[in-house]
Amino acid sequence: MDSIYIGGGRELKGSVLISGAKNAVLPMMAASLLADGTTTIENVPNLRDTITMASLLEVTGAEVNLDFPSLSVNTSTMDTPKAPYELVKTMRASFYVLGPLLSRFGEAKVSLPGGCAWGPRPVDFHLRALKKMGASIKLKEGYVLAKAPYLKGCSVRFDFPSVGATGNILMAATRARGTTTIENAAMEPEIEQLAEMLKLMGAQIEGIGTSYLTVHGVEHLKPITISVIPDRIEIGTFLIAGALMGKVTVKNSVPSQLTSLLEKLHSAGTQVDIDRESITASFTGRVNPVDLTTAVYPGFPTDLQAQWIAFMCLADGSSMLTDSVYHDRFSHVPELNRLGADIKTEHNTAFVRGVKKLKGAEVMSTDIRASASLIIAGLAAEGETLVSRIYHIDRGYENIVGKFQSLGAEIKRIKS
Ligand code: EPU
Repeated sequence: MDSIYIGGGRELKGSVLISGAKNAVLPMMAASLLADGTTTIENVPNLRDTITMASLLEVTGAEVNLDFPSLSVNTSTMDTPKAPYELVKTMRASFYVLGPLLSRFGEAKVSLPGGCAWGPRPVDFHLRALKKMGASIKLKEGYVLAKAPYLKGCSVRFDFPSVGATGNILMAATRARGTTTIENAAMEPEIEQLAEMLKLMGAQIEGIGTSYLTVHGVEHLKPITISVIPDRIEIGTFLIAGALMGKVTVKNSVPSQLTSLLEKLHSAGTQVDIDRESITASFTGRVNPVDLTTAVYPGFPTDLQAQWIAFMCLADGSSMLTDSVYHDRFSHVPELNRLGADIKTEHNTAFVRGVKKLKGAEVMSTDIRASASLIIAGLAAEGETLVSRIYHIDRGYENIVGKFQSLGAEIKRIKS
C-alpha cells in the first residue's frame, strides 16, 4: 500500500486548478443511464471513485469510454440492472444507480452499501420513497431487490435533506408516470447540477436549487454533453491549507458556493481575496479560534469538518466543532493527536485546544476527508510525517500530492 511522505513546515505559495466535483460527477454518471444513446461528461476528475462508478456502469452492459477528463456512456447495450457488492462496498455512491436502473428496467438488484468508517449510513429514505412510487422492495442476502413495472409520481417528504436520497428519487421521478414532489430536498450545488443535467436531457423539473422539487414524468430522456462543476470541497481544502501556511489561490472557484467557509476563514483572521472565479486565502500571522457546527448547504459542509479541525489545532485558543450531519465523523482526531494536537471528543463535538506547534509522526488515513486533514496537519507540522492507507485520498482528490508540490510543499508519494 502506498503512503505519503511530508516534510513539514514549508510555506505554501501559488495557485491551484481545481478538478471536477466528485460528488457531482458520481450521480451524473448514474443519470447517464436514463438516456437512450451516448452521454458525454467533461471535466471528470481522475479518481478511484469515478473509475469505480465507470466499472459499475459497465456491469449494467453500458459501453463506457473513460479518457480523463472526458467520459462517454452509451446505454444502447445495457442489459443487466445490477450493482454487485464488490463495487458497492468500496463506494457508497454506487447506490445512485438504483433509481435509474429501476426506471429503465422495471427491476434492479443493488447491493446495500453497509456502514462506513464513521458508523451506519442508512438508505431508508431512498427505499421508502421508491415504495411510495409503487416499487416493491425486498432485502435479500445483502441486496435490495426492487421491482416496479412502472414508477408512479407521488409526494415525498424527507425527514432530513439527504443528498443521496434526493438524487436517487429525482432520477427515478424523471421517467415516472405523473408528477412527483420532493419536500425537504437537498440543495447542495451537486444536486443542483444533477437537476440541471436531467433538465437538459429533457426532464421536466421545477424548483431547482430549492428544497421543494417538482418533477413531471416524461417518456424518454435524450443524451447530452455536460461539464462538471469545480469541486467546492477541494477548493475548501486548499484554502484552509493556505490560511494556515502561506498564500494559496484557487482558480476556477464558485465563491457563492463557499459563503459559510469564507465567513469562518474571515473570523479566523485569514485574509480572503475574491476576484471573480478565483479565491485567495493568506495567513496573516495569527489563527483565531472559531467554533462551528456543520449543516446542510448552505451551511458549513461536513466534508470540510476534518480539515477545519486541523486548522484549529494551531489556533491561538480553544474551539468547539460540532458535526450535525454525521455524529461520529471524528476518526481523524486520534491521528491528529498523534501529531501533537490537543483534541477531545464528546458525542458529536470536538473540543480543540490550540497548540503552539505540531510535530511530524506516522499516521493513518481513515476516510477521504480525514486524509486531507492529516495532510494539512502534516504540512504544518515540524519534521516528517508519513500518512499511510492513502487509497482513501485517491478516492476523492485528484493529484493532491502534485498540487501541493506545485505550491512549494515537500510532499511525495511512496510506492510500497
Ligand atoms: N440519512 C438517513 N437515511 C437515508 C439517507 C441519509 O438517515 O436514507 C442520514 C445520514 O445517516 C446522514 C444524513 O442523512 O446523517 C445525511 O446523509 P446524506 O444522504 O445527505 O449523505 P450521502 O448522500 O450519503 C453525500 C456525500 C458525502 C457527504 C454527505 C453530506 C456523495 C457521493 N457523498 O453523502 O460526501 O458527506 O452527502 O453532505 O455525494 C465525501 O465526499 O467525503 C462524502 C462523504
